[in-house]
Amino acid sequence: MSDAKKTVTLTDNQTGKTWEFPVLSGTTGPDVIDIRRLYAETGMFTYDPGYTSTGSCESSITFIDGDKGILRHRGYDIQDLAEHSDFMEVAYLLLYGDLPNPPQKAKFESDITNHTMLHEQIHSFYSGFRRDSHPMAVMVGVVGALSSFYHDSLDINDPHHRMVASYRMIAKVPTIAAWAYKYSMGQPFVYPRNALSYAENFLHMMFAVVTEDYHVNPVLARAVDRILILHADHEQNASTSTVRLAGSSAANPFACIASGIASLWGPAHGGANEAVLKMLNEIGTKDRIPEFIKRAKDKDDPFRLMGFGHRVYKNHDPRATVMQKTCHEVLDELGISNEPLLDLAMEMERIALEDAYFIDKKLFPNVDFYSGIIFKALNIPVSMFTVLFAVARTVGWVAQWNEMIEDPTQKIGRPRQLYVGGLKKDYVPLHKRTSGSAKAQQG
Ligand code: ACO
Repeated sequence: MSDAKKTVTLTDNQTGKTWEFPVLSGTTGPDVIDIRRLYAETGMFTYDPGYTSTGSCESSITFIDGDKGILRHRGYDIQDLAEHSDFMEVAYLLLYGDLPNPPQKAKFESDITNHTMLHEQIHSFYSGFRRDSHPMAVMVGVVGALSSFYHDSLDINDPHHRMVASYRMIAKVPTIAAWAYKYSMGQPFVYPRNALSYAENFLHMMFAVVTEDYHVNPVLARAVDRILILHADHEQNASTSTVRLAGSSAANPFACIASGIASLWGPAHGGANEAVLKMLNEIGTKDRIPEFIKRAKDKDDPFRLMGFGHRVYKNHDPRATVMQKTCHEVLDELGISNEPLLDLAMEMERIALEDAYFIDKKLFPNVDFYSGIIFKALNIPVSMFTVLFAVARTVGWVAQWNEMIEDPTQKIGRPRQLYVGGLKKDYVPLHKRTSGSAKAQQG
């Protein structure tokens, strides 16, 4: 961050008092007003529900320009990474700040590969879950439980512990995810294979059965790898901020990542691709699209077009473009020439992008709009969609968590509030209370 030369002045219109605050500039992107001294100097807080105007940290990992549709990791455009790189390289980039050279890449891949197995006792941990559990519930539980298995990497003040915990999480999430699926199917768990790449290994653990050989289709593995790249990190979104907030109290890394998975689960965040597929199935046929578009625009109807809109992108989500291309590649490879859901999705995109409501509000398809169709073609069940997102995002969470721990200005996260509740009341003994809580009576 540059030295503060620019300032802004805040004026209290009633008293005429003024205060000056520094303006900080990053390497690119909007400047920020440094209000760290705001409360101390003015006795006031800022009010920003949803943190729409609040920068919570310095970061050099990911840059987004939502108006221009730009997403860069450590300076590299996401389109270039998705086209030319692979997930292990992107993981290294996020963690270490630049792309690896060949020996660095080989060592990183080998180190990750050598951490993909789970402690054997985790097997029995799975049987505590109901067979029909949502796999995201299993993910939250098992990732959180890693802290009870790997005591030798819990000291967040020790860089070696942090590195081992980071590698463990990146390496083990595909195994945990695939086993959540196997458990729901009642099939034996398939162990990781060191000869396979990260994406191949995931597909193998998901779809191999002990009774026969399973050959991973390289085109499909490449598609999964690309999906992992596209979801690897996305700056200070809800789940990443959750990880940082949990980590700011010095909680252990496995617990922090479990909290990120819990946040990702929501349909407004990682659950959106699952919601897109449900929505397309509900729409069913092209002639019903206008009816749903009408509902999405109706203020009295809570329905929203799933896979549309984004807090940051007010232009095309650059990931959605790559995702649409990948979707066609996967369907071609699988010989699916006529996928009704894809036709429906493309028609819906066309109609929405011509509609004044979506144009005015700058609502474009986001990364989740096409990923569900790819997953469906790959035979990945709907309940696993958000799990795949969690597998990919783990590296982003881990990189952001490390950056936070290493930041000397880091403090425990503690937002303030605008209190609108009652003023001081005297305690009335139970037998003397005539009126109770109006809210409880309504319920
Ligand atoms: N369909 C219809 N209207 C929408 C949609 C949508 N998908 N998204 C936003 N709007 C409207 C809102 O009603 C609001 O209208 P108003 O100004 O008249 O009140 C306006 O656009 C702005 O929307 P907000 O909800 O204020 O924007 P916010 O940045 O808070 O929300 C979000 C972003 C949550 C992603 C929203 O667009 C949404 O719910 N989309 C559908 C869910 C989805 O696809 N989520 C995936 C996000 S990507 C990811 O997590 C990887």
